[in-house]
Amino acid sequence: MAKKKMLPDFYRMKERGQKVVWITAYDYPTATFAEEAGVDMILVGDSLGMCVYGYRGTVPVTMDQCIWHCEAVRRAAPNTFVMGDMPFLSYQPSAELAVLNAGRFLKEADCDAVKLEGGKRVVRQVRAIIDAGIVVCGHIGLTPQSSGQLGGHKAQGRTADSAGLVIEDALALHEAGIQMLLLEAVPPAVGKFITELLPIPVYGIGAGPHTDGQVLIVSDVIGQFQAFTPRFVKKYANVAKVVTDAIRAYGEDVRSGAFPAAEHCYRMIRGEEAKFQEMAREYTKRE
Ligand code: KIV
Repeated sequence: MAKKKMLPDFYRMKERGQKVVWITAYDYPTATFAEEAGVDMILVGDSLGMCVYGYRGTVPVTMDQCIWHCEAVRRAAPNTFVMGDMPFLSYQPSAELAVLNAGRFLKEADCDAVKLEGGKRVVRQVRAIIDAGIVVCGHIGLTPQSSGQLGGHKAQGRTADSAGLVIEDALALHEAGIQMLLLEAVPPAVGKFITELLPIPVYGIGAGPHTDGQVLIVSDVIGQFQAFTPRFVKKYANVAKVVTDAIRAYGEDVRSGAFPAAEHCYRMIRGEEAKFQEMAREYTKRE
């Protein structure tokens, strides 16, 4: 089992040009598989709203839901850096609320870091969380919690002006003290520029190949999430088909009587069968 990586390891990996692999996970079995597969970091993303609960977006996700899922992931992956994702309205209203909620990820779910969305507009909250001693990852570019203001789930930084705004956000967060940054859905040139500009690890989801590492949503990677597939996703399996086929085959076996077969049934303890038959005859006579 590889040693759990911590913040200094991620800085060293940036220096050495070693790519960091993160993936999301929301439940115990998947997090077990992720740790076994050797990822460097697991994000318990608020994407669980869509991937687990079937919401249309991440906005309805609550703190309690995030904590439950982080607890399960931590139990499954004790040797992996686990990051909790702060859901909508868990940090936006005030710096104090942000600290209390960020702290819950550490106190209740033993997370190693928290992530929150937004640039300039959340520097107060970022400073306060960092002052409380918590590792913070910023998240800019496409920020799904405020996708309404962005005109939908759209790539950002595709014009020079828009790229300038993403860079301003990156600089503001760095100035506020974030220890890591996630860029979502920006062109590779913007990903490269910010990765080289900042001395902290800069990771990407849909930000091209030049960032210090990549994250993808596990439900996309394994082909479980069906509603839509963003351009930046690469699917490595078709779990939806595997699971649907298995459940369909089970249904066919039940309907045809092929399941359960003898090997799925319990035998009576030796010598009890005859006694049971006798008892059954008595019951039948009574009827
Ligand atoms: O919630 C999430 O899964 C995310 C992804 C963009 C990585 O924040």
